[in-house]
Amino acid sequence: MKKPLMAGNWKMNKTVSESVELIKILKNMVHYVTNVEILVCPAFTALYAVNNEIKGSNINLGSQNLFWELKGAFTGEISPTMIKDIGCSYAIIGHSERRQYFVETNEIVNRKTKAAFSTTITPIVCVGETLKERESNMTSKVIEKQIRESLFGLTLGQASSLVIAYEPVWAIGTGKTASPDQAQQIHHFIRKIYEQMYSKDVAYEVRILYGGSVSPDNISDLMKKPDIDGGLVGGASLEAESFIKLIRFFE
Ligand code: 13P
Repeated sequence: MKKPLMAGNWKMNKTVSESVELIKILKNMVHYVTNVEILVCPAFTALYAVNNEIKGSNINLGSQNLFWELKGAFTGEISPTMIKDIGCSYAIIGHSERRQYFVETNEIVNRKTKAAFSTTITPIVCVGETLKERESNMTSKVIEKQIRESLFGLTLGQASSLVIAYEPVWAIGTGKTASPDQAQQIHHFIRKIYEQMYSKDVAYEVRILYGGSVSPDNISDLMKKPDIDGGLVGGASLEAESFIKLIRFFE
């Protein structure tokens, strides 16, 4: 049985001391939780300190990005080897904010995904349509292209062990969640593409998270849907109280 995953993407928020303060509370309040895998993705600058706090706990660490080369003259970039070394087991790749502001293409996402696997980091590959694309009935086309190109050339094992995050761009940070039915429809569609690309088993095994204004108020309706395996949470992961509620929902 797949374990759901509740992941907090802290984005460009929190200093080191603020990050440590949050993780300390979180660690104490969710230590007994076993039914959901817990992941936090702080800013690069806080990874080391947060990792020191969560050693031996049930909280996993992830980065919000990584570069596709393992080392070399790439000023300002952070390699998968460094991410692994600092304690991360996951990396978010191709978040819509990176696609939008840093022009990350599906090809770049593909390179980063493969680089993550080369250091045994589990990629969380993000896909999602903009409002304009949804309004012009392009959603399935956009999602299919993102999935096929971002995951190009992966092995069956890689395809089943990575995590997909469906985050409709219009639902991120807007307070506007995709309805559970809208989310389920796309999650199901992603599994259908997976069946074509890999197999029925792999399509069943891959965890697909929903992201975009997830909150304690809507988690229960979202998680009732059969193809939603957890959440990638922005705003509600920045406060201990709301993130703890999201995690405890699964107990
Ligand atoms: P919000 O939960 O703030 O909408 O952010 C979603 C997101 O982008 C998580 O990666």
